[in-house]
Amino acid sequence: MAIVIIRQDRKIDSWKKALVAKAPDISIYSYLEEHPKEEITLACVWKQPVDILKQYPNLKCIASFGAGVDFIFKDQSIPKHIPITRVVDPVLAGDMSEFVLALILSFLKNLNSYKTDQLKKVWNPREYKRISDITVGIMGMGALGEELAVDLIKNGFKVIGWATSPKEIPESEVYAGDSEKNTFLSRSNILVCLLPLTQQTTGILNSKLFKELPKQSYVINVARGGHLVDEDLLEYINNGHLAGAGLDVFHEEPLPCEHPFWTHPKIQITPHVASVSDIESVIPQLLENYRKLTEGKPLNNTVNREKGY
Ligand code: GLV
Repeated sequence: MAIVIIRQDRKIDSWKKALVAKAPDISIYSYLEEHPKEEITLACVWKQPVDILKQYPNLKCIASFGAGVDFIFKDQSIPKHIPITRVVDPVLAGDMSEFVLALILSFLKNLNSYKTDQLKKVWNPREYKRISDITVGIMGMGALGEELAVDLIKNGFKVIGWATSPKEIPESEVYAGDSEKNTFLSRSNILVCLLPLTQQTTGILNSKLFKELPKQSYVINVARGGHLVDEDLLEYINNGHLAGAGLDVFHEEPLPCEHPFWTHPKIQITPHVASVSDIESVIPQLLENYRKLTEGKPLNNTVNREKGY
């Protein structure tokens, strides 16, 4: 039994080093080195090359290095019986909530516009908004959405949520399902998307949805680029219905140079950094699941294949 790490970024060596340091008794390989494919029972992956998992005949589990698993489902060749797990981590949730708070405050106080003014040496005081003026609507009330709701409430925000099925979150009203979506949207001055990317949620941030938001609301997407219809967002910002957007995720990453988001004065973009898995805090959960796997025990944080998250 052994672990293979598959990720195509520069972080592969640091993850391997940290995993080996914490579990010297386990055989752990990078997919880039020579390794015995038939020994691999756990594959820890982040945006793995398509079809690579087929090489491991005795694979028993696929673990995402992050909260999202949409990239794993892109590989249609993965046998249905192999469980998939994801990261559920308070550090990841805390980071996300700090990042969204920063974007919200930046919008309320016009910080993005002042940066643009500064580059042009323009002195242009603008009206600002207060926390008490607005309601934040969070789409997706999983581990990340719930933590965000709790933190925003602590900071004095009114918060409402929307989830596919009913949920109880202290001090915030959670709307559920399609029938309550428009009521939720009509109250959201700032809309934060934290949904998992599934067939149902692909393209959910589109003109039909933007139309339901109050005039001059602000859209934050820190989930996946696939949730957003880029042209619809541009249309609704350019026609004055939306005040702007903070986007951390894109259909194609890095965002192509010619994409209009780069230069739009009302769009704040960041390079998929809202919340990045912390090696020290995620490794214990990967290893705990590996040990459970070897002992034949039920795994933590498994993903429901039907739901896609
Ligand atoms: C980041 O995007 C994650 O899925 O953890």
